[in-house]
Order: sequence, then structure tokens, then C-alpha cells
Amino acid sequence: LHVIHIAAEMAPVAKVGGLGDVVAGLGKALQKKGHLVEIVLPKYDCMQYDRIDDLRALDVVVESYFDGRLFKNKVWVSTIEGLPVYFIEPHHPDKFFWRGQFYGEHDDFRRFSFFSRAALELLLQAGKQPDIIHCHDWQTAFVAPLYWDLYVPKGLNSARVCFTCHNFEYQGTAPAKELASCGLDVQQLNRPDRMQDNSAHDRINPLKGAIVFSNIVTTVSPSYAQEVRTSEGGQGLHSTLNFHSKKFVGILNGIDTDAWNPATDTFLKVQYNANDLQGKAENKESIRKHLGLSSADARKPLVGCITRLVPQKGVHLIRHAIYRTLELGGQFILLGSSPVPHIQREFEGIANHFQNHDHIRLILKYDESISHSIYAASDIFIIPSIFEPCGLTQMIAMRYGTIPVARKTGGLNDSVFDVDDDTIPLQFRNGYTFLNPDEQGVNSGLERAISRYRNNPESWHELVQKVMSIDWSWEFSASQYEDLYAKSVARARAAAS
Ligand code: ADP
Ligand code: GLC
Repeated sequence: LHVIHIAAEMAPVAKVGGLGDVVAGLGKALQKKGHLVEIVLPKYDCMQYDRIDDLRALDVVVESYFDGRLFKNKVWVSTIEGLPVYFIEPHHPDKFFWRGQFYGEHDDFRRFSFFSRAALELLLQAGKQPDIIHCHDWQTAFVAPLYWDLYVPKGLNSARVCFTCHNFEYQGTAPAKELASCGLDVQQLNRPDRMQDNSAHDRINPLKGAIVFSNIVTTVSPSYAQEVRTSEGGQGLHSTLNFHSKKFVGILNGIDTDAWNPATDTFLKVQYNANDLQGKAENKESIRKHLGLSSADARKPLVGCITRLVPQKGVHLIRHAIYRTLELGGQFILLGSSPVPHIQREFEGIANHFQNHDHIRLILKYDESISHSIYAASDIFIIPSIFEPCGLTQMIAMRYGTIPVARKTGGLNDSVFDVDDDTIPLQFRNGYTFLNPDEQGVNSGLERAISRYRNNPESWHELVQKVMSIDWSWEFSASQYEDLYAKSVARARAAAS
């Protein structure tokens, strides 16, 4: 199959969180299965240009419609992680992708509705005939209605549209009239069964539009797929999802096991594997020195946390975990940054408080290189999310022999299984979980993990070896997408014949 992903992120060049990992990881896995996979991204000024070797401009200029006019787009191409990637650079006075950040601009709705239309225009003008157009999150949700309303009539008509929602919290709603800018018909679409927001009738909800107009709708774990179909978890879209439940499915993400491999990871001080854990200990020693933490006691448990600091991640519980770890005689390293100013300020306060402390370090920025070192160095990894569509950090942590302590929600519920839970077959148990999103919950997980680490080093060692051997690769999940694509294409062909 010919699959084109249209997305706002791709690791490692344009990554804010897990979406970037998924676009690269799923793309690579599908390519390995023999499919032709291409990616379309905006050309941001803040991308990691040092990770793109062969970026070159195409001769063609793609013209796309916006606000009643045509704008020229320069198109760049490159190969990233072995995948052909097209970057769209609009010549628009608002400099949509020239803002120094990926998201969080006042005109994100305009920026990404522009991009969605320009991406389709690129496919049309380049004569692409994909079998599947796969879009991700609200930023590219405009593609589904644009495709059916405007591009199928123009002859870009070979594709089925697959949409993956990585987080139902972000829906991209805006006043209905704004939809007109990208050429969609506001009158037609601002209706309860189409793109109208379920609670504000003068607003358009792009995420809802993607659910309504895509042929396949997925989210990133089976548990989260259940949760979002309830009024508590659906962020206002549960009724829409229930109405469209036949085409909606949860597929657990994988991780890119080449990019995340302690045996070959060049970001690490020492590479290691499950049969030689001395290297893991050396990484712990090295990061403690690097960050000025005490390394007097090699067996002092080191708890790590790597996250966007947003309410979803249970920031108050992360703060609690820092203090509780200290009380329990452990060390804690947090790597995170927040798009929410008051959360960023709060953590800056905690970071300053512990600035010269022997056992606590907070690194409040995005830093890929340090992230690898923390996964490798930590003994325990804490993820107290309030909700978590999938979560990749628990899988990455395990790949590096770091035992997760996670709240039982969404994808964490589908990937972390408590070592003390007798109802789960022994071979699947791989970490510590807690149900209630409160301090007692965090305590119960942390205390049990730290106690086993301290009091039962042999069984801890076995657990570390066990989690390192779990297969978190995309292999299985990519087959599930492949299956969905193939069935959808087959249905379309049957209907056409
Ligand atoms: P989300 O997508 O909700 O942020 P995930 O667990 O799916 O959560 O993915 C997070 C990804 O972002 C992981 O690859 C993690 O290592 C990375 N990450 C998060 N915060 C940082 C940071 N401050 N520095 C480096 N990498 C980070
Ligand atoms: C979102 C979710 C996260 C998920 C990631 C990749 O950012 O918050 O849980 O792992 O997307 O699908």
C-alpha cells in the first residue's frame, strides 16, 4: 500500500512529545513491511536542522488556497529515519511556521488549517495516488473534510482516510467562521452531525470533524479507547465516538526499538544489555556526577521522570513523588518542561530550592540527549498520569531496565502490570501500578518499588532483566494498522465495483 502520513510532528527533527515518536516509528515499521510510506510536515524554523542531512528544495511551487487567495508554498524534501519527508514552507505574510515554537500560537487553528490544505494540494499537484492518507491529532484533522469535499472532486480520489487521535484533550475548537479560511463550507459543516462542537454551537471542532469524515479512526491504546467513550473520559466527544464506534479502535503504540536501544545508544556513557547490567550502573554513576548528586551509595535508588509538565501528567503527584522519594532515602531526577507558565514557574521554584541538594535535580527543558541518560541511569520511573492515551515513557524505561511505577489509566493500564497482582499471569507482571490519582496511590507504588529494590536485590535484578526483554517494537501494532488499512481499501474497492 501507498501510505502518506500528514502530521505536525516527527521525531527526531520536529518532536514535542509522543506524537513525533509515533509518526517516525509507525512509518518505519510500515515501510519495513513493504509499504510505500511518505510523510508531510510543516517546515518549522525551530526544527532540529542538524538532524536533517539532505534537505533540498523541489523545483515545483505548490499553490494553495487560504482566505480567498492563492499562496505559494515552497516544498522541501529529505530522508529522515529512512523515510521520504516533504516539508511545506508557506509564503504567507503571517509566517505560520516561523514562530520559534511548534504549537501554542494564538492562530494555531489558522496555521494548521492552512497546512492541512497545502498538504493535500501537494499530493494533488505531485500526482500522488495514495491508498491511505493517515492524519494525526486536531492539527491535521482538517484533511478529512477537505479531502472529501474539495479534493476528491479534483481527482485526488484514490485514498481512504485514517485518523489517529493521540489525545482527546486537544480538539482545536474555534469560532465557526474561521473554518472558511481553508475553503471549507461553514454552513454545511457547522451542524451537530458534522463539525459543530458538542457544547458550543457557534464553534467548530476539527477533532470531531476528523471522527465524522475519516474512514478509520484510531486512538493509541485499547483502554483509552474505552475511556473516551464514557462521559467522564470523552472530553465532550463520547457521544460522537459512540455514534461512530464501528470505525473506532484503540491500538497500543510501540516504540522505535532502534532509536531506543541501550546496547547501541550513543547518547549513553556506556552501552549495556540485559546480560551485562554493569553498564547500567555506570550510567547511574556518571549522571550523578554530571548533575552533582551524591554517589556515595551506589545502591541508593534513583527515581526518574521525563515528561511534559501538564495537568494530564499529574504534576501535583510528580511534585509529591519528589518529596516522598527524598523521605524514603532515594534520589530523584526530573526532566520536563511546561507550556503552562504557572506550572513552569512552580517547578522552577522547586528546582531552585533543591539547586545544591545532593539527591534531587530538576532539569526544566527539552533535552533529548539527557533523556536517554536518565532512562538508562534510573532504577525506577514514575508516571502518575491523571489520564494517559498511551504513554511511551513506561515502555522506553523498561527497555532500559528501569522499573515503572504508573497509574492504572489508558495505555499505562495496557502496558504496566503490577508485580504483586495475583490476578495477572506472572509472566506479564513488569512494574508497579496504583489506581487512585492521589498521594496515597503514589506512595503505595513508590514504597513497594523502593522496598523491593533495597531488600531484595536478586529479585529486582531478575525483574530488570525481564522488563528489558519485553518486545515493545512496532511490529505487532503496525500489523494492526496494516490490517485496518487493507480492510478499508478492500471495502472501498468492493463498493466501487
Ligand atoms: P506525551 O506525548 O503525552 O508527551 P509520551 O509518553 O507519549 O507522552 O511521549 C513523551 C516523549 O517525549 C518521550 O519520547 C519522552 O522521552 C519525550 N520527552 C518528554 N519530555 C521531554 C523532555 N523534557 N526532554 C526530552 N524528551 C522529552
Ligand atoms: C499523546 C499522549 C500520549 C501518547 C502520545 C503518542 O501525546 O499524551 O499518551 O503516548 O500522544 O501517541
